[in-house]
Amino acid sequence: MIFPEYRPRRLRRTETLRSMVRETDLSIRNLIYPLFICPGKKVRNPVSSMPGVFQLSVDEAVKEAEEVAGLGIPAIILFGLPEKKDKTGSEAWSKKGVVQKAIAAIKKAVPELVIITDVCLCEYTSHGHCGLLKGEAVDNDSTLEVLARVAVSHAQAGADIVAPSDMMDGRVGRIREALDEAGFSMVSIMSYAVKYASSFYGPFREAAECAPQFGDRKSYQMDPGNSNEAIREAALDVEEGADILMVKPALPYLDIIRRLREEFTHPLAAYQVSGEYAMIKAAAERGWLSEEAVMMESLVSIRRAGAVLILTYFAKQAARLLRGE
Ligand code: PBG
Repeated sequence: MIFPEYRPRRLRRTETLRSMVRETDLSIRNLIYPLFICPGKKVRNPVSSMPGVFQLSVDEAVKEAEEVAGLGIPAIILFGLPEKKDKTGSEAWSKKGVVQKAIAAIKKAVPELVIITDVCLCEYTSHGHCGLLKGEAVDNDSTLEVLARVAVSHAQAGADIVAPSDMMDGRVGRIREALDEAGFSMVSIMSYAVKYASSFYGPFREAAECAPQFGDRKSYQMDPGNSNEAIREAALDVEEGADILMVKPALPYLDIIRRLREEFTHPLAAYQVSGEYAMIKAAAERGWLSEEAVMMESLVSIRRAGAVLILTYFAKQAARLLRGE
């Protein structure tokens, strides 16, 4: 026998061989596309730190949703920019809020598209924090009541899945209870179970105009050094009735995605956040990286770590590539 006996390179010889033994695939069904809904008509405001991403008025969002569905992407997630912000984020649960209007209009135009809504207050509050304030602190328990109201208003407008991203304790349970009481026992909860206090959210805060006006989110979002805590957070959400668990951000937290995959049997989602998207776009613009190749590699890595669903601003671009367009 000549050394080496086993040669892994044998199965890497041709593209056909490589594809036959590939363990992980990315498919269009894995993708969820985020949309930012703003007031007005015929509005398409580019977000400067996220090339290809726009703030869209409801009519434009409907067009976008049609395009997304046409590409075979199964779901969108909606974020809202209200007409007016106030201390309690009251537009977040208004029947006439931008998200509520967008849900109804999109459902009518593309009924097969799954609509997920982000449930949080930071886009709606004048102070930019994800909950109600008591002094300078975000008050957990009074915030739960407001979040429950927001979730029910989204369900009433026709949302299929609500996704609380505020990181208050007990919100999944309170939202589940409120949805059930209001007759929406079939509306699912995708919980941002493990959401880190990450600096990768920077560009999003421009897109959603929701940077905190003072302080930071470290008293409610998780510390980047923690891994065991991710298991405790996810376990609580499972207990409280979450249907889908999410880890956010994705690429810097692949180890956390893998741990959740091993510890829980629930469907797992990961959010490739604004900063992850912006880094790839910026490097590609400078010619330092090959955009499509890095996009696909990062998405496949998130799948390989164990997420079946990926929320990503690349969803349309990736879908086009997967369709061979
Ligand atoms: C709202 C929310 C944020 C993101 C999703 N939902 C911002 C934040 O927590 O500061 C970030 C998404 C992204 O960066 O793409 N709480």
